Amino acid sequence: MPAATSTGASGVIDLALAGAAVVVTGAGSGIGAATARLLGAAGASVALAGRREALLQQTAEAVVKAGGRAVTIPADLADPASPGRVIASAMAAFGRIDGLVNNAAMCQHRPLAEWDTAGFDEQLATNIRAPYFLIQAARPALRESRLKSVVNISSSSGTLRQSGQSVYGMTKCALDYLTQSLAGELAPDRIRVNCIAPGPVDTPIHATWADDLDEAYRWLESQVPLGRIGDPADLARWVALLLSPVSSFLTGVVLPVDGGQVIPRA
Ligand SMILES: NC(=O)c1ccc[n+]([C@@H]2O[C@H](COP(=O)([O-])OP(=O)(O)OC[C@H]3O[C@@H](n4cnc5c(N)ncnc54)[C@H](OP(=O)(O)O)[C@@H]3O)[C@@H](O)[C@H]2O)c1
Repeated sequence: MPAATSTGASGVIDLALAGAAVVVTGAGSGIGAATARLLGAAGASVALAGRREALLQQTAEAVVKAGGRAVTIPADLADPASPGRVIASAMAAFGRIDGLVNNAAMCQHRPLAEWDTAGFDEQLATNIRAPYFLIQAARPALRESRLKSVVNISSSSGTLRQSGQSVYGMTKCALDYLTQSLAGELAPDRIRVNCIAPGPVDTPIHATWADDLDEAYRWLESQVPLGRIGDPADLARWVALLLSPVSSFLTGVVLPVDGGQVIPRA
């Protein structure tokens, strides 16, 4: 990898991701898959984690077609053993880890009365315990790497109150806090920890909570001042920027990429 980013005569910024090894969780679909493809196009090696192996395989083929390298790591991140195993597998495949994208999450909407402790624990384990212990497991490799970058994928739901999202929103709010807290704790290692908080994006996640997808999309669109739902590529570009040395002076940021959804209403 080049030692630093630069703008050439054309003025085009080089993200300097070629040759980097990046772990992306939830890489079989949506934002994770789009991120993996973009990293592949930038010449990176991508370790793809998630439960559904067939989807990971599809993403791996797209990464290779785009010009990168890929390895699939089937894993249920609600299992406490998974974070350590995912990082060990990525190290075994690439011999280095330059970046970690904590993207996988569950999004179940239920009113208070309908939650039980098993469902609550599973959502917390996937959305917040796994990112925490993935960062812990990756830290020694990240410390020795060139990018030294962690990107967490949170949500506008961590900021906005939405009916039925008490548990999901809580996990995203916790991820925002974790980002800022670990950004400070890992700064002496020069490891950067940043977070993207997407607004509504067109991915399969909405099928997990919406009874009527058309109606859900109409409502989501009405919540976005820019008047559209995001595309996964809208998010992938920001993940790549936060992984890149282009953002080497940026840490502890929770960046809304949401078409203005969290702008306070007049
Ligand atoms: N789409 C939106 O509107 C939106 C808005 C705000 C924030 N986000 C956030 O964006 C991130 C990506 O979501 P998405 O929208 O791209 O939806 P998605 O396509 O459903 O992606 C979620 C991914 O997480 C993986 N996953 C879920 N539970 C897992 C587990 N226990 N172990 C391992 N992997 C697991 C899923 O793969 P498997 O099922 O194969 O494991 C899936 O690939 C999430 O953090 C989400 O909260 C999305």
